[in-house]
Amino acid sequence: MKHKSVCIIGGTGFVGRHIAYRLSKTDKKVRVLTRNAEKNKDLRILPGVELIETDVFDTRQLEATIRDTDAVINLVGILNEKQHNGEGFHRAHVELPKKILGACLSQGVPRLLHMSALHADVNTGTSLYLRTKGEGENALHTFSTERLVVTSFRPSVIFGPGDSFLNRFAGLLKTLPLAFPLACPNSRFAPVFVGDVADRFVQALDDKSTYGQRYDLCGPEEYTLKELVEYTAHLLELNRRVIGLPDWMSKAQANVLEWFPGKPFSIDNYKSLQIDSICKHNQHEPTSLEMVAPTYLGQKNRYYINDDYRKTARRS
Ligand SMILES: NC(=O)c1ccc[n+]([C@@H]2O[C@H](COP(=O)([O-])OP(=O)(O)OC[C@H]3O[C@@H](n4cnc5c(N)ncnc54)[C@H](OP(=O)(O)O)[C@@H]3O)[C@@H](O)[C@H]2O)c1
Repeated sequence: MKHKSVCIIGGTGFVGRHIAYRLSKTDKKVRVLTRNAEKNKDLRILPGVELIETDVFDTRQLEATIRDTDAVINLVGILNEKQHNGEGFHRAHVELPKKILGACLSQGVPRLLHMSALHADVNTGTSLYLRTKGEGENALHTFSTERLVVTSFRPSVIFGPGDSFLNRFAGLLKTLPLAFPLACPNSRFAPVFVGDVADRFVQALDDKSTYGQRYDLCGPEEYTLKELVEYTAHLLELNRRVIGLPDWMSKAQANVLEWFPGKPFSIDNYKSLQIDSICKHNQHEPTSLEMVAPTYLGQKNRYYINDDYRKTARRS
């Protein structure tokens, strides 16, 4: 079956915008749901993209907005909660996917793509983030039937224009003179390009071989967190010494920053970093960090948004 209209929940974010952009180049109609349409009104310029302000936690509103679509993509996720007790994680990663599942079943939507995270596991996840992501993912796959087929994606950290990973370190590097104290410096990542992730979502929509599957997504190379921050400083042409903190200081930093506005680094983030965010299998997405990061992080480079980042990113 070809899915002609797609509703993206969480489609205003970093990954969602890349998926919406790609879908706008197809013959599919795209509906992006948001809590704040005014803030995201630029998405309306994409052909075939409709932006709707709604409360996705309100079952009636959710059902009304997905009623006439034939596929839903759920991208809602949070790295930190306002609370300190897991309620926020549970709401975003478990309660919401269950509501979306119920709404798809009641409204006859036959296809659901879901964004989880690498190493999400309700039992063995090292953090609330990973355990709740695992619980939400399981809930969807347990109920996946012929009436509603689910596919989940489980990426390592995602990079690309607009990311909140390298860009966050870039911001911190610019404000901290001389030295950068880095928690969990030896944690490993296999950063995956947002364009590759978006491609996987778009391709999976109508690809029967993906029905019911869960895919780990990693980029072609692995790096320690320290290497990634040093690389960011290099691209920004900043002379900073990145000082890796020992474990007890990393934990102490998390315990302090947990209470800062916006939680720049939380205890739960520290716990997520206790497992390397790398894939076991040998299949990796093609685009490397070195191909793309210089186009949006380097001071002398400018990024040009276009169809295909790999071809159109170029130096100014
Ligand atoms: N970025 C990464 O490196 C990475 C790695 C692994 C997994 N993931 C997962 O991939 C997904 C997308 O990530 P992203 O980086 O694109 O995130 P993002 O930029 O923060 O976007 C998430 C979107 O979800 C919506 N949202 C957030 N909290 C919500 C809430 N409480 N209620 C309703 N909507 C809410 C927001 O839309 P509105 O504000 O418009 O309502 C936001 O645009 C997430 O599930 C994340 O956990 C990301």
